[in-house]
Amino acid sequence: MRILFLGDVVGKVGRNAISNRLPSLIEKLKLDFVIVNGENASHGRGLSEKHYNDLINAGADVVTLGDHAWDQKETLGYIEREQNLVRPINMAKGTAGRGAALVNAKNGQQVLVVQGLGRVFMNPIDDPFLATEEAIAQCPLGQMADAVIVDFHAEATSEMQAMGHFLDGRASLVVGTHTHIPTSDHRILKGGTGLMSDAGMCGDYDSIIGVETDEPLNRFLTGVPKGRFTPAEGEATLSGVVIETDVKTGLCKTIAPLRVGGVLAEVMPEF
Ligand SMILES: [Fe+2]
Ligand SMILES: [Fe+2]
Repeated sequence: MRILFLGDVVGKVGRNAISNRLPSLIEKLKLDFVIVNGENASHGRGLSEKHYNDLINAGADVVTLGDHAWDQKETLGYIEREQNLVRPINMAKGTAGRGAALVNAKNGQQVLVVQGLGRVFMNPIDDPFLATEEAIAQCPLGQMADAVIVDFHAEATSEMQAMGHFLDGRASLVVGTHTHIPTSDHRILKGGTGLMSDAGMCGDYDSIIGVETDEPLNRFLTGVPKGRFTPAEGEATLSGVVIETDVKTGLCKTIAPLRVGGVLAEVMPEF
């Protein structure tokens, strides 16, 4: 099975890049399943219902969130009925929505998508390792799930890599989101799990992590807020990772980065 994971969609240009490019990528790369991180899709803050539907209509099978999950208040409501929208699993008990979803792929196979939220340089939250492990134990790879994809939304590459090694042999792919910068460390671990520390963002890279440079730069220089953060509006780069899984085991056979459009050099998997 061939699966594409795309990192944080930032603002209108990120959404446009998904709508304009994802349908042809699905065809060209013969993708069976697509996961998109949508936590910054609505003006950089959260995900409105309309924008969630835009991502799904463009070809996303599952949309994941992150620490910005509730920036749009309406998400607390519509997440309850959207089975393919996944927020961090280690949020407080009773939080709206779900942290894991088992979803049908185009080829009829079943993909478990889980999201964890990191704790290094981030706000206090429950243990992401045990919460993710529990979700996978309830729906094991190669038994109830044909593929298991873990979006680990974290700040520190050390924590992301720890999650990869922790789940090695139990997930098809562990991929980080949240930093908005793609790493070039994609590889397959000894137990067969694909790992990439961060998928990067789907946004305008002529910016500071997707934000127009003026205000973040001002805050670094003076520490005094002058205005709001605004998503940059140049052409977005779609950034993520493609894996091929083994039909029987669900483990990772191939892993390759993908970057297309915008100011970053194009990187396209060769299949
Ligand atoms: Fe983000
Ligand atoms: Fe985030």
